Amino acid sequence: MRKIVIDTDPGQDDAVALLLALASPELDVLGITTVAGNVPLALTQRNARIVCELAGRSDMPVFAGATHPMVRPLVTAEYVHGKTGLNGPELWDPTMPLRKEHAVDFIIKTLRLNRDGAVTLCVLGPLTNIALALIKAPDIAAHIREIVLMGGGCFEGGNTTPAAEFNIYVDPHAAKVVFQSGVPLVVMPLDLTHKALTTRERVARFAGLGNKVGTFTAEMLDFFERFDKEKYGSEGAPLHDPNVIAYLLKPEIYRGREVNIEIETESDLCLGMTVVDWWRVTGRKANALYMRGIDDNAFFELLFERLARYSD
Ligand code: RIB
Ligand code: CA
Repeated sequence: MRKIVIDTDPGQDDAVALLLALASPELDVLGITTVAGNVPLALTQRNARIVCELAGRSDMPVFAGATHPMVRPLVTAEYVHGKTGLNGPELWDPTMPLRKEHAVDFIIKTLRLNRDGAVTLCVLGPLTNIALALIKAPDIAAHIREIVLMGGGCFEGGNTTPAAEFNIYVDPHAAKVVFQSGVPLVVMPLDLTHKALTTRERVARFAGLGNKVGTFTAEMLDFFERFDKEKYGSEGAPLHDPNVIAYLLKPEIYRGREVNIEIETESDLCLGMTVVDWWRVTGRKANALYMRGIDDNAFFELLFERLARYSD
C-alpha cells in the first residue's frame, strides 16, 4: 500500500478525488488536511468530513489548515462550486470529529514518522499548507516521496486570469516555495484536465452506479459542470482533482515531460502564472513531471469501477 496524505479544498472535483482514494485498497490515506481555497476553510473542512461520512470513513483523521494564503488575500470560487463548496446534492452537518492538531503540524509529524520517502503528498488546492510545512520544518523535504498536485497551465492558459490557474493564483508564494523545494513533483495542469471532461453520458454512468456515492457524485457534477460548460462552450466540465489520485493508481494513462516550472509572484498582470519551459529554452533544471496527455476513457472507467465499490 502506498502511504498518502491528501491536502484539499472541497470543491466537487476534490470530493470525487477523495471518494476515489477512499475506495482504492492500493492507497493508505494517513489523513486529510484542508485548506482555504474554493470556499473558506470553515466550509472546506466541513465538506471533507461530509465526504468521509458519505464514504463510510468517519474514522479518517481530518485536519484544518491555513485560513488564508501566505501573502495574498484569500480569493474563493463560489461562482464555480456554489456557496457551500459542494452545491448539488443535499448536505448534512457532519458528526465525525475535526482533529484538533493543525494540518501543517500533522503533515510535519507524519513525514517525520515515515522517513525516507514513504509518504506521497496529494495536493488538490492552493499549496499553502504544504509551503508552511516546508518553511516550518525544512527537514521534511527529504522524507517526501513525491508531491502530486493539480495546478497550473501553459498551452491552455489560465482559468482564473488569462495567465493563472486557480490553485496557483490563490497562493503563488506558496507555489513558489513548493516548486523550488527540490521535492519530486508531478503536475496535473489545465493542459491535462481540460481533456478529462464530464459528459452527459459519463454523469449518467455515475448516477447509474446503484449506490449513494454514485447519486451524490452525479448531483455534484450536474451543478459543478454548469459554469465551465457555459464558459468554454464545451459538452462538459474538466474533472480536475481526481487525476491526482488516478495517477497513483494508473500512471500509464498519463503522458508528460520533465520540465522546469517557475511561478510568477511579482507581476500584477501574470501573478500565479506557471512559467513552463516545455521546449527547454532556458536551460533551467527540470523540477517537475508536467502532464499533458491522458487516456480519458480509462480515467473515467477507473472512476466508475472504484466508486461502484461503495455499498449503501
Ligand atoms: O483550477 C482548478 C482547481 O481549482 C481544482 O483543484 C478546483 O477544485 C479548484 O480548487
Ligand atoms: Ca481543489
